Amino acid sequence: MCGIIGLIGNNEEDVVDQIILGLEKLEYRGYDSSGIAVLDKDCKIKRLRAVGKLHSLKAKLAVDRISGSIGIGHNRWATHGTPTEKNAHPIISKNVAVVHNGIVENYKELKFDLKKDGCIFDSDTDTEVIASLLQRGINNGASPREAFRKMLQTIEGSYAIAVMFDLLPDTIMIAKQRSPLVIGIGANHCVGSDITSIASFCSEVVYLEDGENAEITKDGVLFFNRNFNQIEPSRHRISIEVIDSGKGKYQHYMQKEIMEQPSALRRTMLYNKIDKSILNDISRILILACGTSYHAGMVAKYWFEKFLKIPTTVEIASEYRYRSPVIEPNTLVIAITQSGETIDTIEAVEYVKIHSNSKVLAISNVKNSAISRIADFVFYTEAGAEIGVASTKAFTAQLAILASIAFMHYDFLIQELQSFPTYCEEVLNLYGAMNDLAHKLCDAKSAIYIGRGSLYPIALEGALKLKEISYIHAEGFAAGEMKHGPIALIDDNVPVICLCPDNELFDKTHSNVQVALARGKNVIVFTDFGKSEILSDEITKIILPKIHVEFVPILYVIPLQMLAYSIALLRNTDVDKPRNLAKSVTVE
Ligand code: G6P
Repeated sequence: MCGIIGLIGNNEEDVVDQIILGLEKLEYRGYDSSGIAVLDKDCKIKRLRAVGKLHSLKAKLAVDRISGSIGIGHNRWATHGTPTEKNAHPIISKNVAVVHNGIVENYKELKFDLKKDGCIFDSDTDTEVIASLLQRGINNGASPREAFRKMLQTIEGSYAIAVMFDLLPDTIMIAKQRSPLVIGIGANHCVGSDITSIASFCSEVVYLEDGENAEITKDGVLFFNRNFNQIEPSRHRISIEVIDSGKGKYQHYMQKEIMEQPSALRRTMLYNKIDKSILNDISRILILACGTSYHAGMVAKYWFEKFLKIPTTVEIASEYRYRSPVIEPNTLVIAITQSGETIDTIEAVEYVKIHSNSKVLAISNVKNSAISRIADFVFYTEAGAEIGVASTKAFTAQLAILASIAFMHYDFLIQELQSFPTYCEEVLNLYGAMNDLAHKLCDAKSAIYIGRGSLYPIALEGALKLKEISYIHAEGFAAGEMKHGPIALIDDNVPVICLCPDNELFDKTHSNVQVALARGKNVIVFTDFGKSEILSDEITKIILPKIHVEFVPILYVIPLQMLAYSIALLRNTDVDKPRNLAKSVTVE
């Protein structure tokens, strides 16, 4: 959450447009406000900030242009302080401008102390203590470098920071602790929260490790470890695939990403051949994840226990380390995270590493992400950059990897899995049907999704997609649990969306469908040709291709993504950047 960028122009050129380009790529990290600060030709800090999405800042820039050959920018996802202009970054304290992603956990004590020293605070942010500490250092005669280092020794918490000093007009100082940061070297020397934000300005990148810091000038970058000794970290060439190719012919990234699922699945299976030895001596599997990735883990549990016969637990990463979990010997830990950055998942894995000898397998969509650097081995979903905040293609690609692990001893299933993307293509033709259904559901205040077995997590995921992007209240339930409370919610105005494929649980789920129909007239059933004709005529039926039962969860989520998307379009929400959310959640 929050995206930061800093850039130094070659040959003194103005960097404002480049910073805005970088901020566009980082908007998925937060869009409560954005801001930019540059040092102008007189070495004065000039700043512009705007509440809301980046287009508000662009509109301000169009009337009130600032320019400079060194600058920093920020997209905010508010944590401390409401999303107002005074809380937007860059935060300035006289000679210093700061952008920050993370949380200064000891900011209250520091603020108290700084106020006693006469410092005046203009914002409600935790970040302002960084600017104030730096300014106090300068006022006390420290050089910018000394002030920066002292500040790093004083703050606690998580941070990716970029700082400009008007007293040091050719340098951006940066530091990282538990928030992502990438330094770019090439035509421009720059820094960003992720590689895509800076990929067009440089040819090589360095991923800073926790505790490391750096000084960027137009002539080069100096890297330091946490003790401020100079280091030479390894550099990586930027590959073509990190460059976001835009929305193409689609109205939204989410729509494009839904449509890309067959190719994402094909690539993921092509590049991930599972080595059976990963399960040598493993007697338990523990899956850690959040959000949509957690739902992928829940589906995997059904597969792992059925086909690998290995007891599997799936844990919400944000809960896991705040109890006293027992990690049994010979446990394989699987951390699933699209971004590879979700702080709760990273911290849960760190907990495992401290408290056990378990090996950690990460499943991530982002090369060189934080999780890939702490896991023992990584499988990358080859879904390509996922920009829409609501995860779609990364989810089905995660399921493809998890299925490949689960079915490793069943060649016929692995072969069937290879042909699965063809069925996805067929399902993607249902856009018209989902659009018609969306017209019926778009005014609902609340919706219920039900499923049994491995379709239960898909019911949760379908409901999550709907609430994320359409803001309709939605809940997913295990179909058999309806009678223990949720059934009280059903009336004619609450649509009940039932996932009811022709599998061994069909009759049981069908009974739940009938029970729902007896209490409300808005029942929609997703099923396949096998059983569709026995469903009551009062039910709205969506017929999907008949496929091997084990692949049904991967197939059934796709029309639910399309349905949520179509409903969100009708409700005119900001599909790719839904309110209050961010794609990459780097605060607890
Ligand atoms: C955020 C995103 C979700 C995502 C979740 C976990 O909430 O909006 O789409 O599922 O984080 O993210 P991860 O990157 O760890 O999969």
